[in-house]
Amino acid sequence: MNTGLKGKAALICGASRGLGLACAEKLAGEGAKVILLSRNKDLLFERVSNLNNRGVEARFIPADLSVIEEIPAIAKKAEAFWGNVDILINNAGGPPSGPNLSFNADVWIHSFKQNFLSAEELTKLLIPAMAESGWGRIINLTSITVKQPVENLILSNSIRMAVTGWAKTLSLEFAAAGVTVNNIATGYTLTERINELAAVKAEQSGRDAEDVIEEMASKIPMKRMAEPEEIASAAAFLASDAASYITGVTLPVDGGYIAGV
Ligand SMILES: NC(=O)c1ccc[n+]([C@@H]2O[C@H](COP(=O)([O-])OP(=O)(O)OC[C@H]3O[C@@H](n4cnc5c(N)ncnc54)[C@H](OP(=O)(O)O)[C@@H]3O)[C@@H](O)[C@H]2O)c1
Repeated sequence: MNTGLKGKAALICGASRGLGLACAEKLAGEGAKVILLSRNKDLLFERVSNLNNRGVEARFIPADLSVIEEIPAIAKKAEAFWGNVDILINNAGGPPSGPNLSFNADVWIHSFKQNFLSAEELTKLLIPAMAESGWGRIINLTSITVKQPVENLILSNSIRMAVTGWAKTLSLEFAAAGVTVNNIATGYTLTERINELAAVKAEQSGRDAEDVIEEMASKIPMKRMAEPEEIASAAAFLASDAASYITGVTLPVDGGYIAGV
């Protein structure tokens, strides 16, 4: 399959580890130039050095996506590397998990900034140039929580629905300009996020985190969690020319977890 990704410039958010890093590696493997963004400058430097040593054109931007005032500077920096950004992958750390009534307004506001506003603001700044060039991709990494609420994850269950509504609305406006806007409803995937979620559940129930992880996996029809590369493959597909007629969708990559048709 010709992905058409060679030479395209991609900004991947939340890319120092986990799903974002896997997406950066996958797009780079298809010949894209990649910009990795996250808060940890040292880790980003290490990741980008690894990519550069393998001949990949890679750069990094250290930034905290929950600080909305910084978003214009991020967009400017990203465009300064190679001109336009052709592909934007919106992604950041997940909101905290816990009992439904346990989060105060500050936590809700911080999560809304990190998991909704960052994507909305960054996209608003980068999508006009994509439309002008006649080609672009916005890919939002969300969660199975947009199709089926998950226990302990009221922040994700709520805020990611806003991303879904926003993305569909935007996809309609930019469809004719050759820019697609899609979401991935990520299922349980073996990254540090799973350890975070399992630790909270383990504390609540007095069990080992390992038991909790095993139990989570047992509820997935495939009886295993995803590898980050399996989510990244879907992102690379949505970024590719092969997905040129797909826009406004939420693609579950969940091993069959979502119990709906
Ligand atoms: N893993 C799963 O099973 C799963 C399932 C569904 C949805 N998701 C969601 O998918 C997203 C990524 O998950 P993951 O498993 O890759 O998580 P992860 O392993 O915790 O990685 C999160 C990444 O985001 C960066 N990050 C966190 N907060 C940030 C911020 N405020 N600004 C900029 N970068 C930030 C982190 O790097 P720094 O620390 O360097 O900033 C890291 O690179 C999360 O929102 C998660 O909730 C995950």
